[in-house]
Order: sequence, then C-alpha cells, then structure tokens
Amino acid sequence: MHLYDVKDRTVVVVDILRATSCMVTAFAHGVECIHPFADLSACKAMKAKGFITSGERDGKKVDGFDRGNSPFEYMGEDVRDKKIAFTTTNGTQAIEKALGAKKIIIGSFLNLSSVIKYLLFGDNNVLIICAGWKGKVNLEDTLFAGAIVEKLRNHIEPDCDAPLAAQYLYNLAKDDMMGFLSNSSHVKRLQRLNIQKDIEFCLTPDQYSIVPVMKDGKLTIT
Ligand code: MLT
Repeated sequence: MHLYDVKDRTVVVVDILRATSCMVTAFAHGVECIHPFADLSACKAMKAKGFITSGERDGKKVDGFDRGNSPFEYMGEDVRDKKIAFTTTNGTQAIEKALGAKKIIIGSFLNLSSVIKYLLFGDNNVLIICAGWKGKVNLEDTLFAGAIVEKLRNHIEPDCDAPLAAQYLYNLAKDDMMGFLSNSSHVKRLQRLNIQKDIEFCLTPDQYSIVPVMKDGKLTIT
C-alpha cells in the first residue's frame, strides 16, 4: 500500500475469509451500519454506546464480544437495524490503512457482481487491497482480486503484473475454488478451529446485491 497514493482512488478492501464476507452478509440482513476498528479496546468501548461488538483475533471470537466473525452469525432478524462495531485481525486493519482514499468499498465473492458494476460505472482508478494475514499474502484474497481483473479485463489497464498474476490464478481456480485453496494457510487455520461451512459460503459468488461504502468513519449501503 505504501506504493500507492489512494486519495484519487476507489479502494476495494478484501478479506474473503472472513471479515469482508461477514460485513456484506450483515448488510444483506439489514444491519444499519458497521464501524470498523483496527484497535480491539476502541471496538470494545462501543458496547457502552449501544453497538453490537463483533469480531475476532486469530480467527477466534473475542472474549466479551457479542459475536464472532462467522457470516452465519449475521443472518438473523436480530441484526436488522443494529449498529455494529467490528474488529478483526486483518480485515479491519486493511480498512484503516485505506482511510484517505476517495472511496472505500467492501468486496467479497458474496457481492462480486455488484462490486464489478460499481467499479465499471465509477470514474476513479481502482486499488484492490487484499488483507492477507498479518502482512503476508494469502490466496483467497488474491483470487478475488483476480476475479475483478478478469471481469473488468476489457476496461482496465493494470499498472504492474500483480493484477495479471491474480487474474491468472483466478482463471486456474474458478471452477473449483475449494479444491484450489485446500492447502492455503487460512483455510487450514480455520479448519483447525473446526470452521468449514464458513469457507464454503464465503467462496460462493453473488449471494447478495449490495456494496458497503465507507463514509464518515462508518460503512453503510445506499
Ligand atoms: C481477519 O480479518 O483476519 C479474518 O477475517 C480472520 C477470520 O477468518 O476470522
């Protein structure tokens, strides 16, 4: 990220497993807004202001928080019209790093086509931030970046080879993403925590037609 000036760009923040998939799911089920926090105690403090406190560290729900980081925790009527304070190991850190961008949107396979449409009709240069794991690369976020590049291939001009590498991997993986990711670091980490159905769900394209957008410190959908 340090190589890019984001102030004139639309930044797509991506954390397929599982932060941005959770956020998209929560909005699809009527959540009013999500305030993302990099800092755990700042997030915790929002409980006193009437927020649901959500998120994880190292994949595990934070002690004392209302919810963890599984999309299935954000599908009930009980999240409708609620405000959520969210912190995660990588996803909300990536959002914080994107602050200052002209626009910040939340991407996941669950809202892939809506993100594509948003970017296609937008007039800014695009930067896709793959949250990865503690500063390191992961495969699932790269596949999502590759999906964007593939679907916008007739409309964009990548400024280096990273988008091309992501596109190449996505085209190799797209017919069996579960299989392609079977040895990947975070899939294995989540499986050690007995989390399997989240992985399958988060890799399912186009479940929801929404795009969460960051404005004034919070995410909402318009
Ligand atoms: C993160 O933000 O690091 C992830 O969403 C971790 C997780 O899968 O819970």
